[in-house]
Amino acid sequence: MCGIVGYIGNRDCTDVLLDTLSKLEYRGYDSAGIAVFEKGSIKVKKSKGKLVNLVKKMDVEGRPSGHCGIGHTRWATHGEPSDINSHPHGNRRISIVHNGIIENYKELKELLKKEGYAFESETDTEVLAKLIDYYYNGDPVDTLINTLAHIDGSYGVGIVFRDFPDHIYAMRKDSPLILGTGENENFIASDIASILKYTRDYYLIEHGEICDITQNEIKVFDTHKNIIEKELHTATWDVDAAEKGGYEHFMLKEIHEQPSAVKLTLSPRIKNSLPDLSESGLTAEKLGSYENIYIIACGTAMHAAMVGKYVIEKLARVSVTVDIASEFRYRDPLINPTDLFIAISQSGETADTKAALHLAKDRGADTLAIVNVVGSSIAREADMVLYTNAGPEISVASTKAYSVQLAAMYLLAVELANVKKRITSEECAKLTENLLELPSLIEKCLETKEMCQLTASKLVNANSLLYIGRGLDYALSMEGSLKLKEISYIHSESYAAGELKHGTISLITDNMPVVAVATQRALIEKTVSNIEEVKARGAMVVLVCGESLEIEDKIVDYVIRLPETNEMFMPSLAAIPLQLIAYYTSVLKGNDVDQPRNLAKSVTVE
Ligand code: G6P
Repeated sequence: MCGIVGYIGNRDCTDVLLDTLSKLEYRGYDSAGIAVFEKGSIKVKKSKGKLVNLVKKMDVEGRPSGHCGIGHTRWATHGEPSDINSHPHGNRRISIVHNGIIENYKELKELLKKEGYAFESETDTEVLAKLIDYYYNGDPVDTLINTLAHIDGSYGVGIVFRDFPDHIYAMRKDSPLILGTGENENFIASDIASILKYTRDYYLIEHGEICDITQNEIKVFDTHKNIIEKELHTATWDVDAAEKGGYEHFMLKEIHEQPSAVKLTLSPRIKNSLPDLSESGLTAEKLGSYENIYIIACGTAMHAAMVGKYVIEKLARVSVTVDIASEFRYRDPLINPTDLFIAISQSGETADTKAALHLAKDRGADTLAIVNVVGSSIAREADMVLYTNAGPEISVASTKAYSVQLAAMYLLAVELANVKKRITSEECAKLTENLLELPSLIEKCLETKEMCQLTASKLVNANSLLYIGRGLDYALSMEGSLKLKEISYIHSESYAAGELKHGTISLITDNMPVVAVATQRALIEKTVSNIEEVKARGAMVVLVCGESLEIEDKIVDYVIRLPETNEMFMPSLAAIPLQLIAYYTSVLKGNDVDQPRNLAKSVTVE
């Protein structure tokens, strides 16, 4: 989704804007632009396509030179990707960049037209820019306060006024935006990772706050123009975390970071062989009191929730409902104050997950956020938060975030089982020991790389694939299938292996490869029967299984064997080859692995 940056300081502003925008490319975008003060006027440059197009355009038309400006990467919502629809928007007096959606933009546009304003783009952002211009009274903060009272929707906005060439203004509601502060320079940005090279220190902006930023000062106001004292935060993320570090793609780097990410999520929360989630606010007393658990998320995070459901129900015998956030919020769910609501989100900014969280809070449920990005909206709005400590995830296709979300699910399941006395202290100690072994086992799974590369070369020409499994293997196969389709653009579906014969098996031909996951001992025989059924109908079969499984060569074409552990935690191991297969298939197809078409890393609109 859209990325916003702004810079004021002694460096060349265009250089800084382009550099920091490049760090936001991962969010997904289809056009880019900047507005920079040059000799007292606002110079705007924008272009459809990737940043490189903007740079080429500036090579021809000239590069604005100055020390204060704003920049944007746009993921089209209102109006196709085009030069005209790209941000910044405005006129000679004002220029803005915006992330979010102004819901009442049509009424506002009509009103402004009557006041003589003309519009060149189809965007809601141009309407916001002109509304700010309409209310402009010579005092930017007053102007923005007046404007805010008339807009509905979500926004993170960076604004420059021609009359105030040494200031950037910013405001936000429901869309991510932070203020970075360095020595003799200040920034606005959609996330801290994009400006880590310049500073680690930042302020969070709350809903409805208005910021006035100069080179050496940051003032934040509420809607009554009272100054608000802000707490300074310091990011712990390493500068290298947002770089590829010698890997060809961020995705491959992040796949390799999984052992350490999982360790960082698990180790601090296992004390004396017991899980300890008290730092998140989840006391034993609270945990023991919940009647039902709801886990809500989108995309990969929802798949982690599916694994969580199996493990929590099996170990703790507490009923878990998993919902896709965009479905939960509109189905009038039965959640009530005795339930625990869990939102899982890497970014902590996903609009639907956030809306589901608001609904659960309204219904009085206790809310827990399992989130990667510190200080993100979901983390701040939930009653309790468990950070997943994966460091920044740049590749759109989520890998390490999934692994740490699984780790969080396991911790919760074991802690809940312990509190509810469903397991003995010896069993609990054994489970936590198994958990602590996961990082080194994940490391071993990375050794399947060559086999995954070979498998990818066999799948790359398929038009469609099936991923099958039972129980936890089915939950995992959902993620394997999503990984493949999002970056290789090959259609794939995950299916409960036992359900195949109720319709989907009619699709099986020698042109429909099947990836089967079989790590659950009690279900292996059944899954093997399903494998035989598809093999008998001509499918090429790739099997992901534990190293001890004995299987006849003739019923599978390729086998990827994994080290074994407690089978409830096997999804953490089996995920690795599924990620690698998707990765190598995408590479073989020559796709943009880290920024697949049409996708955004952080989906901040409904
Ligand atoms: C987008 C991303 C997915 C991600 C999903 C949820 O669709 O492309 O990789 O799983 O959003 O994101 P979240 O930040 O809430 O985990």
